[in-house]
Amino acid sequence: MTSTTAQRYQFRNTCTQLHPLQEMLDPTTIDDLNHCGITRGQHVLDVGAGAGSIARHLCDLVGPTGKVIAVDLDTTLLAPTGVLDVYQRDLRTEPLPVEPGSVDVVTARCVLEHLANRQLLLEQMITALRPGGRIVLGEIVYARTTVPHAPSGGDADLVVRIVHGILDVLAARGVDLHWGEKAPTFLVNAGFEQVRTRWTARTWTGGSPGCRLYADNARQLRDQLLAAEFTAFDLDRFGELMTDPAVMVRGYEFAATTARKPR
Ligand SMILES: C[S@@+](CC[C@H](N)C(=O)[O-])C[C@H]1O[C@@H](n2cnc3c(N)ncnc32)[C@H](O)[C@@H]1O
Repeated sequence: MTSTTAQRYQFRNTCTQLHPLQEMLDPTTIDDLNHCGITRGQHVLDVGAGAGSIARHLCDLVGPTGKVIAVDLDTTLLAPTGVLDVYQRDLRTEPLPVEPGSVDVVTARCVLEHLANRQLLLEQMITALRPGGRIVLGEIVYARTTVPHAPSGGDADLVVRIVHGILDVLAARGVDLHWGEKAPTFLVNAGFEQVRTRWTARTWTGGSPGCRLYADNARQLRDQLLAAEFTAFDLDRFGELMTDPAVMVRGYEFAATTARKPR
């Protein structure tokens, strides 16, 4: 595998991927943002804004006199407004489009783990923050899955193997599935205060947003999963199981970190 291949982003920004991701993770991220004390007129940066649910929530918080800067490699699902500025940037090679010390809050969810230059990008985000500004991060982290219920033991085993297969494919392609555990240390070492992380994982039922996310991830990584240990029959059966309400599976684990830049 060449380094270029290793660094290429693994997914296409589709509604079938990003909408379930938002449905699963927005409650946690919005709760963290609501505790940042964001006020009218502030400037906020959303790095890797995806389909924009968090950027839109931030627009509501900063109001018509504020500014939300959304940056992404793929901006097709982001519509600019008078408050929301949208920048298409490849953050592996291009800098963030903001001045040092100019933003009150910076957020990035499920982005840094995908990028080989994640530490340099986090340093850029820190530089963009004003003293006393807040950072809100979130990443999916590696965890072994379990299946409390499925139509058969063979189905339960298949779901476990494919969820681990998805994580293994991502790791082999350069995604750091432990970055969410390392980010708090990085922030403490950078002098940040009030560094707090919470880890969450819930059971997902077939047909739920979480299972739709698993199904979409398996669909988008189908070629890599076929090249690993799985057959087309396995992957098709997994797709069916992810719509079956008889299935209950442990969802992705999510590490959410908040912190304050020293004044
Ligand atoms: C898993 S999605 C998360 C989207 C959004 N933050 C959310 O949580 O709903 C990862 C996002 O990172 C963006 N991304 C991936 N590689 C990138 C790059 N090199 N530069 C900028 N954005 C990138 C993708 O386009 C995608 O929108």
